[in-house]
Amino acid sequence: MDVFYAELAATAVKPEQYPPAGLPEFVFIGKSNVGKSSLLNVMAGRKALARTSGSPGKTRVINFFNINNLCMFVDLPGYGYARVSRQEAEKWGVMIDRYLLSRRRIRAVFMLLDIRHDLTALDRQMLDWLRHYNFDIVTLATKSDKIKRNAVPSRLKLLREATQMKDILPFSCETKNGRDELWEIINKKIQ
Ligand code: GTP
Ligand code: MG
Repeated sequence: MDVFYAELAATAVKPEQYPPAGLPEFVFIGKSNVGKSSLLNVMAGRKALARTSGSPGKTRVINFFNINNLCMFVDLPGYGYARVSRQEAEKWGVMIDRYLLSRRRIRAVFMLLDIRHDLTALDRQMLDWLRHYNFDIVTLATKSDKIKRNAVPSRLKLLREATQMKDILPFSCETKNGRDELWEIINKKIQ
């Protein structure tokens, strides 16, 4: 997919700040530092559309990116960042739940898991919650370049078992491996 147009459409912490509903939305969700903003940039073919950082807790608000006037990529702040207070974590929960439950145009949720890590309690909680509300979930294993190529299948198997998902798409922002496959998934869901 050639992305000829990619722009920040809105930055929001509450519903009044969401962009007008219209385009189908694809949501990037996962723990802090798992690579949500980086993956979004690779999908958009832009280096720094969404801000990324080596230290967790970079994205603090909901960012809506208009992609080709075709769909919206929605970058969420990550969960499980140890340095936020309990109060802040609760605010995160409210902000995310309110968004996810109020937008009718959410076509799929991209649940990102680091290929090197096992699921955390919060990952499980998030997955259960998304399943409970019947979201279309696409699971991705990020940073696949960080492990040896021959170790990828066994990590994917473990993550498939842990998530009870049929497919987990490996993705690397370094090699762009997984980009074409994810665009294929998006295009199918938009049609
Ligand atoms: P928050 O906004 O804090 O929730 O984090 P995030 O999930 O948006 O992560 P972000 O995209 O900011 O990436 C975190 C770090 O992981 C950055 O240093 C990225 O360069 C690195 N990173 C992301 N994806 C990959 C990847 O596929 N391979 C490698 N090697 N590094 C990656
Ligand atoms: Mg981010």
